[in-house]
Amino acid sequence: GVIRSYDFTVSRGFIAPDGYQRPVLLVNGAYPGPLIEANWGDKIVVTVHNNITGPEEGTAIHWHGFLQQGTPWEDGAPGISQCPIAPRKSFTYEFTASLFGSTWYHGHYSAQYSSGVVGPIVIHGPTRAKYDVDIGPIMLSDWYHKDYLALIKQMLSPNADPRVFSDNNLINGKMNFDCSTVAAGDWTPCISNAGISKFNFRTGKTHRLRLINSGADGVQRFSIDEHVLTVIAEDLTPVQPYNTTVVTLGVGQRTDVLVTANAGNPMSGFWMRSNLTSCTPARQPHAVAAVYYDHADTSKAPTSKAWNVSDPGTCANDDLSVTQPLYPMPLPNPTFTQTMAIDTFKNASNITLWRFNGVSMRADFNEPPLLLANQGRFDFPPERNVLNLYANSSIRIIVKNNSPAAHPIHLHGHNFYILHQGPGEWDGTIVRPSNPQRRDVQQVRAFGHLVIQFDANPGVWAFHCHIAWHASGGFLSSLIVQPSKVQQMRVPETVRQTCRDWSLWTSQNV
Ligand code: C2O
Repeated sequence: GVIRSYDFTVSRGFIAPDGYQRPVLLVNGAYPGPLIEANWGDKIVVTVHNNITGPEEGTAIHWHGFLQQGTPWEDGAPGISQCPIAPRKSFTYEFTASLFGSTWYHGHYSAQYSSGVVGPIVIHGPTRAKYDVDIGPIMLSDWYHKDYLALIKQMLSPNADPRVFSDNNLINGKMNFDCSTVAAGDWTPCISNAGISKFNFRTGKTHRLRLINSGADGVQRFSIDEHVLTVIAEDLTPVQPYNTTVVTLGVGQRTDVLVTANAGNPMSGFWMRSNLTSCTPARQPHAVAAVYYDHADTSKAPTSKAWNVSDPGTCANDDLSVTQPLYPMPLPNPTFTQTMAIDTFKNASNITLWRFNGVSMRADFNEPPLLLANQGRFDFPPERNVLNLYANSSIRIIVKNNSPAAHPIHLHGHNFYILHQGPGEWDGTIVRPSNPQRRDVQQVRAFGHLVIQFDANPGVWAFHCHIAWHASGGFLSSLIVQPSKVQQMRVPETVRQTCRDWSLWTSQNV
């Protein structure tokens, strides 16, 4: 493959994507950040400079959905696969595009990505889908008017509501906001009617839309008035095409859809809508953008009517029976099965924390388990929530959600099989074992179950709820997969250098 090189600088700034100005962290000054584009099999090289100042903080960028086969240290999970990139330092990531489709990158330091460190990735590959125009990535994101550190501080204070309410919902970084709803005494600059995203469709042609839920918390329900969506991929898995009017995306998930511009009145526009579901804590859950065909008057607001579909309120993804991979991979027999329960508890200070497999994770940025495991050290303090899966080749995990919230469950370094999901306990049945759905994020319902399985990719991998606030509240585990192979890996010196730089910076800045 070819080498695709990028240079990313992460720094502070102020933006007002919905008219309300707030401090943010940006990649190359843009929100969303720049597109990474490559072909299947290419090598992607990204140098990340940490220019975050006033105040300084660490960073690291995760390439969501990449397998990182043989390169787990390029995964960008600080406190797991590397130390954070210290302020005024740089780190160069190098990894192969071994899957193809639509994905994204995001800051993986604390909940940093909810303050702006996000961007789309498109890996071009073979497709049987027929379309004329690639509209490219459409980022769907809940949006907060406060910085992530302030939100985490609030959430992790004694007797606080563990839910974090978003203030708005954006399509490709735009939406209007009603500034008259801003609290009295808040003098932050705010402009109502900041503007929405607009998309041009070619009349009669078929368009590919690459939907990405890059939000911190909210489950999105995406639709375009008067247009049927043909789903062709879920995460980095092409699927047998199926038609729907609404696509549900949990945080981190992607869905590629085809849309043909052959609806109603081609001269007036159509609303594209993305609504945060009722299971999402949100103050303003509705996002809109406008779709215009050729010759439509783009200065006029669309007049189309929404599809009449109700929100089932489960936060579940499309039924596994309809999401069938185009290229089948039969489910192997598992060599090990682990149950992992989700719940919350109040600690001694009356702070509500999340537990995954009985432990609320507390990170140690100075001792990433991947680097320790590589040196033959497997003795982690229990609060690190590291689970050693030994030499097992196929691991089944039964996720049991004992909490009243739905969760987007994400595993790094793997494209897992989804065996079953639903309310209550798993009854042992597997949906389509000859060709189960494969994804890198899947929703588990409130008080429900999700059963996944994955074929071992040696490394130490984050396994967590992709809701930024839940991960920050301890909902994260690290899985050691095939430790003896991890010990044999040659970790580049630049990765260990992140730890020397980080410990020097922390020793001077605490
Ligand atoms: Cu997209 Cu651990 O995250």
